[in-house]
Amino acid sequence: MAERIAVRELLNAEAPIATLDVRGWVRTRRDAREFSFIELNDGSCLKSLQCVVAAECEGYAAIKAATTGASVRIEGDLVPSAGKGQRWELQATRLSIIGACPDDFPLQKKRHSDEYLRTIAHLRSRTNKFGALARIRSRLAWKIHDFFQARGFHYIHTPIITGSDCEGAGDMFRVTTLPLDKVPLREGKVDFDADFFGKEAHLTVSGQLAVETYCLGLGKVYTFGPTFRAENSNTSRHMAEFWMIEPEVAFADLADDMQLAEDMVKALLDFLCADCAEDLEVFASFVDPTLRERIDAVRRAEFTRVSYTDAIAILQTSGETFEYAPAWGADLQSEHERYLTEVHFQGPVFVHDWPKDIKAFYMRLNEDGKTVRAMDVLVPRIGEIIGGSQREERLEMLQSRMEEMHLPLEAYQWYLDLRRYGTVPHAGFGMGFERLIMFLTGMHNIRDVVPFPRSPRNLDL
Ligand code: 4AD
Ligand code: MG
Repeated sequence: MAERIAVRELLNAEAPIATLDVRGWVRTRRDAREFSFIELNDGSCLKSLQCVVAAECEGYAAIKAATTGASVRIEGDLVPSAGKGQRWELQATRLSIIGACPDDFPLQKKRHSDEYLRTIAHLRSRTNKFGALARIRSRLAWKIHDFFQARGFHYIHTPIITGSDCEGAGDMFRVTTLPLDKVPLREGKVDFDADFFGKEAHLTVSGQLAVETYCLGLGKVYTFGPTFRAENSNTSRHMAEFWMIEPEVAFADLADDMQLAEDMVKALLDFLCADCAEDLEVFASFVDPTLRERIDAVRRAEFTRVSYTDAIAILQTSGETFEYAPAWGADLQSEHERYLTEVHFQGPVFVHDWPKDIKAFYMRLNEDGKTVRAMDVLVPRIGEIIGGSQREERLEMLQSRMEEMHLPLEAYQWYLDLRRYGTVPHAGFGMGFERLIMFLTGMHNIRDVVPFPRSPRNLDL
């Protein structure tokens, strides 16, 4: 086949182009007496290419088959458009139908709700909104790599299957090849010795502990991959499978960690505005009219830093009635997070130095013996998008924390070795990629910003 040119390239052309070949899907067709207009979209960009197919064009006999959703090939010349709203149009010389599309195609011209499109997730990439989301997601993923690579971070592929039941970050999915209808037992318990790895295995909830091993060899590293949590929570912010960006920096403390997170979020916002302007407009126009303003405000703002203890005091004296009363020692509820970031600070906030009892074992203990060097980033509409900490680098402290929390020390010897041999202060964080995209597009449900959503009782495709 001749080389096909992307619509995006044609719409950005500087001069007319003779004899070219485009292929894509018909968005709409309008018939006049002597010719038809086809709006052709090939996914390379948001906009469609207007194609004028005249009656004398080769293949015109098949024009009725060029229905919404059909795939077609159109050859012709790119010429200045006389019509309004576009600079260029394609004057067709030949039309070929590649794949017909009967009129029970679920995506007819009208606008569909996100809920409906979720039921046909395999087709939703052909809509403006989900096409735009997919392109934004792709570009941002690239930019995240670019951001870290440009700063000398090394990309580490951390494992998906893990043998350390680590973190306590969330409930884990088990990985096994044992027959579920005839589980081998030994002394009344499941005999994992007979399982694939000869021990229990799970899907990872975070790449952090693994990436720390490379941090303490390469200095600045990050991992960016899928993570899995089996919490049975059907919320608009939780997925059973989501992607996380986790940088880890040696010789760094919590202040450095927060600065890195702030720089990263701002760099991603700048990139989005410059690189994805056309796709972003879909969300500014149809999802959240305040989107541009919100993004600009975050780009300009210095993120507030507030200690957990002060945050609790702010909540307690707010005069607000919360469903859950804010109390020192308890985790922040979504309503608390949103009050802090939307009402009180009206922008992104770092909440740092959390009570040790509600945070993970690896976070560095403060002098007060009660709080740890942890931070969460809260943003308007979403709440938490980033969670991170300075890690406990002191062997004895780490060991006694683990004992306190009844963690099996034997299984973590490799993690303790990192403190035994040439330990250094280090810090890192994890940002949920889907939460970031929700924040940047104003989309309300996390199921709509991930191409293939996985949540309780939902695994259709
Ligand atoms: O706060 P979390 O649990 O932190 C960690 O896993 C650390 N090990 C990260 C690190 O320090 N390297 O998760 C980090 C982020 C959250 O702030 C949130 O944005 C996202 O991951 N997240 C989820 N996103 C979608 N669905 C879920 N079920 C999520 N759970 C966490
Ligand atoms: Mg967290």
